[in-house]
Amino acid sequence: MRTVDLIQKKRDGKELSTEEIYWLIDGYAKGDVPDYQMSALAMAIYFKGMSTRETSDLTMAMVGSGQQFDLSAIPGIKTDKHSTGGVGDKVTLILAPLVASFEVPVAKMSGRGLGHTGGTLDKLESIKGFQIERSEEEFIKQVQDINIAVIGQSDQLVRADKLLYALRDVTATVDIIPLIASSVMSKKIAAGSDAILLDVTVGDGAFMKTIEDAKQLSRTMVDLGKAVNRQTIAVITDMSQPLGRAIGNRLEVLEALDIMQGRGREDITHFICELAQLMLDLAGVTKSLDEIKEHLVNGRALDKFKQMVLAQGGDLDDLFRPSTAACVTEVYAEKTGYITALPALEFGLYAMRLGAGRAVKTDLLDFETGIVFDKKVGDSVEEGEIIAKIYSNEKIDSKGLTNFQKNVTIGEEKVIPKEIITIIR
Ligand code: URA
Repeated sequence: MRTVDLIQKKRDGKELSTEEIYWLIDGYAKGDVPDYQMSALAMAIYFKGMSTRETSDLTMAMVGSGQQFDLSAIPGIKTDKHSTGGVGDKVTLILAPLVASFEVPVAKMSGRGLGHTGGTLDKLESIKGFQIERSEEEFIKQVQDINIAVIGQSDQLVRADKLLYALRDVTATVDIIPLIASSVMSKKIAAGSDAILLDVTVGDGAFMKTIEDAKQLSRTMVDLGKAVNRQTIAVITDMSQPLGRAIGNRLEVLEALDIMQGRGREDITHFICELAQLMLDLAGVTKSLDEIKEHLVNGRALDKFKQMVLAQGGDLDDLFRPSTAACVTEVYAEKTGYITALPALEFGLYAMRLGAGRAVKTDLLDFETGIVFDKKVGDSVEEGEIIAKIYSNEKIDSKGLTNFQKNVTIGEEKVIPKEIITIIR
């Protein structure tokens, strides 16, 4: 077989056979297929798509390209969760300990942020000492001991995805359903959990811009999971505005701590409880929303979070420390009305430029910077009231403030945002 012939086949809109897909992925993981040919193939897939069979073959070929975790030594139904990415998405920081606080094992492999989207690993690393690298043995032992571990993807787990994802990032081939579905599901399958909750974000700040595309991605991933006997459900969630109040690593940890002390905004608190209910249900545990919410008020979820921080080397004395960003700039409402739009993409990029995110993989993060919104879509505001605070290390000049203000839309009619749009089983 020759890679060039397979690129041409896909470029011309033909289906690749199972054997051809395995050959390509195996060759890529071993370094026999070079990046430049893989980028051409990714672009051909971008334009010509893949059949259900091809997507399934690609997923399983990627699963086989590296290590696979065997979690059978952990009793019970092991659960995992994955978001397709967003702005201010600190859900895992709260959801994982919340579910684990009901004695359900959460064995979670998370990712880093890139561009306007944030990543759970970066948020966790804003806690002094927190280690995201764990061997398979350490990962299993921690879940056995305390029911929760959130770690990074090792070099060996789904090796082909690790290489391909980095390549897609720099070749404009991320936002295409077969490549997202195979990337997400190969990691979830290889990481070994029995039950998987997929949070498929849709809107301005997400890879999927329309509900139709989000539904198709969800259906594809749910079917991939079910085909290998993993209980899988997808929840399509809104990413037209940032999630919750904070964007930025330390600021999001602080918001997560607030939520786990019953002090979060009602909308995000309720949303996370709904996700927890679905995840618990996958593990065969039925709880009412009130029972779940109670663990965010009585400290059970927070205790679980602290146990994880301690188990992964984090410094509990540093946990509640406020952001040390040098400047905090208040942004005021220019008129009275209701917030009608806070575009997630724009604010994600704004926070990235403050140092909270990476433009390229090698960028160093500033954990302390970001944005905290006092007002969200649907909230009423009075002229002159604080809408948000910008945490930066350099003074925000009038141009920076104007750039922020121009993305805040205030109208006369109240709009009611909906966090969960639909569930695909
Ligand atoms: N998250 C992933 O893990 N992979 C993608 O392709 C997109 C989001």
